[in-house]
Order: sequence, then C-alpha cells, then structure tokens
Amino acid sequence: MLGLRALLGLGLLVGGARLGARADTCARIAGVTGGGGAPCRKYRAGPDMAGGLKYLSQEEAQAVDEELFNEYKFSVDQLMELAGLSCATAIAKAYPISSFTSNLPSVLVVCGPGNNGGDGLVCARHLKLFGYEPAIFYPKQPNKTLFENLCTQCRKMDIPFLPEFPQEAEVIDGAYSLVIDAIFGFSFKGAVREPFGSILNTLKQITIPIASVDIPSGKPIFCSAAATNPRNEGL
Ligand SMILES: NC(=O)c1ccc[n+]([C@@H]2O[C@H](COP(=O)([O-])OP(=O)(O)OC[C@H]3O[C@@H](n4cnc5c(N)ncnc54)[C@H](OP(=O)(O)O)[C@@H]3O)[C@@H](O)[C@H]2O)c1
Repeated sequence: MLGLRALLGLGLLVGGARLGARADTCARIAGVTGGGGAPCRKYRAGPDMAGGLKYLSQEEAQAVDEELFNEYKFSVDQLMELAGLSCATAIAKAYPISSFTSNLPSVLVVCGPGNNGGDGLVCARHLKLFGYEPAIFYPKQPNKTLFENLCTQCRKMDIPFLPEFPQEAEVIDGAYSLVIDAIFGFSFKGAVREPFGSILNTLKQITIPIASVDIPSGKPIFCSAAATNPRNEGL
C-alpha cells in the first residue's frame, strides 16, 4: 500500500517568483518519492536533485502508469481526477490567492491533446472551487467521451474556453496572474508541432509564473525563461 501511495504521486513543475510563492524553484513534487510513501518496488528514482527532489524518466513514468492500470486496476478517469485535484491542491499551496497582487485571481490553463490536458481540465475545475478564476485554452480537443465530459463540467462551472491563444506575452501578463501548463506529458515525442510550438514560444516570454503539470512541456519553457527572465528563479 505504501508503494501504491508512492505510485499515485504526481509531477508538477512550478516556477517564477512574482507572487512570492514558496515553490519558487523548479520543483518536481512527488514522483516515486511523493505521497509520503516508500519508493515503488519496481521503479528506481532518478538522481537526487537540489532539495532532495527526484525525477522519473519518460519510460519510468509510463511504466508506473501501466502498473496502475493493469495491476492496480485504476481507470483513466479515476487517475485523472486524482491528478487534477493534486495539481490544484499543490498550486493553491504554492500560489495562494492571498499572494496575488491582482484582485481577480485569474489563471490561464493551457491543455494539450492527451491525458496531460485532461489533468489540466480537472485542475481548472478544482481551482474554480478553491476560489480562483480559471480560463482554459484547449486547441486540440480529442473526440472522446472522457474529455467531452470534462469540458462540459468546466462549462457548467462557468469556466470560459478561450477561442484563441493570446499571441502577445504582454497580454497574458496583463490578464492573468498564473499559467498552468498541461500541454505535454510522457507521450510527447519528436519536434513540437503546431499549434503548440507557437504557444510554447509565447509562454517562454511571459513573466508571470507558470506551473507545469509534467516535464515534457515544462522543461523547454523553464529552460528558456530561466535564460531571459530573472524572475524565474532556481531553474
Ligand atoms: N489517467 C490520467 O489522468 C493520467 C495517468 C497517467 C498520466 N497522466 C498524465 O498524462 C500524461 C500522459 O498522457 P498521454 O499518454 O495522453 O500523453 P500526453 O503527453 O498528455 O499527450 C500525448 C499527445 O500529445 C501529442 N503530441 C505528442 N508529441 C507531440 C509533438 N511533438 N508535437 C505536438 N503534439 C504532440 C499527440 O497528440 P496528437 O497525436 O493528437 O498530435 C499525443 O497523442 C502523463 O505524462 C501525465 O502527465 C494522466
């Protein structure tokens, strides 16, 4: 059971310091060491990072996923709900509404076409319940009941879906206090295809903090932002 708790650990990268967040360094929360459990028996953790953080490789993350489905008999929507709720909880701890300088705690949630994007939809729903004002950009929506239902739930909670992505980084900086990157998870491969290349390029230029649900889209944003934006600390 301890191993299971560890398996349910969730990856989240958070960065940026404008809000004075506690998690103002690039942090992978959980992974094989998360959830307070012992390391999973099948997967070794990556090398210790600053602050004792551990990372999973792409293959290790996929293997954890397979084990949850096949051995532990979790369903996709169960995992997605847990993942999205865990992300929203971590974000609320790292970026509490009280730390926002704007009166409106606006959060832009950018969702990709896979399960990582589904995690983002669930996260948006829980953030709304926590008192945030999320808006979603979801440019490539899969034609699957699971994702359609998640979109319906968000719409029923009056969470707006943006028809297009703001091309100017300044527009995002002005309209939102935080961006959630739920674009790519462990099935990302190859060169980034549009429309996500342009989206990632814009996100590299914004100065408000970005919390990434997983590393594949988080790393390029943070690496670039770290080089150009001194407010993205510890990256
Ligand atoms: N059940 C859950 O909730 C659950 C469980 C485990 C993990 N997760 C999360 O979901 C992630 C895994 O979900 P997933 O397997 O659906 O993978 P994903 O990484 O969320 O999305 C994969 C999709 O992204 C698109 N893509 C991949 N490479 C691309 C590129 N170079 N340029 C543009 N688009 C690209 C492809 O969509 P197209 O083919 O449509 O282009 C691909 O099917 C994990 O990393 C984790 O964050 C969720």
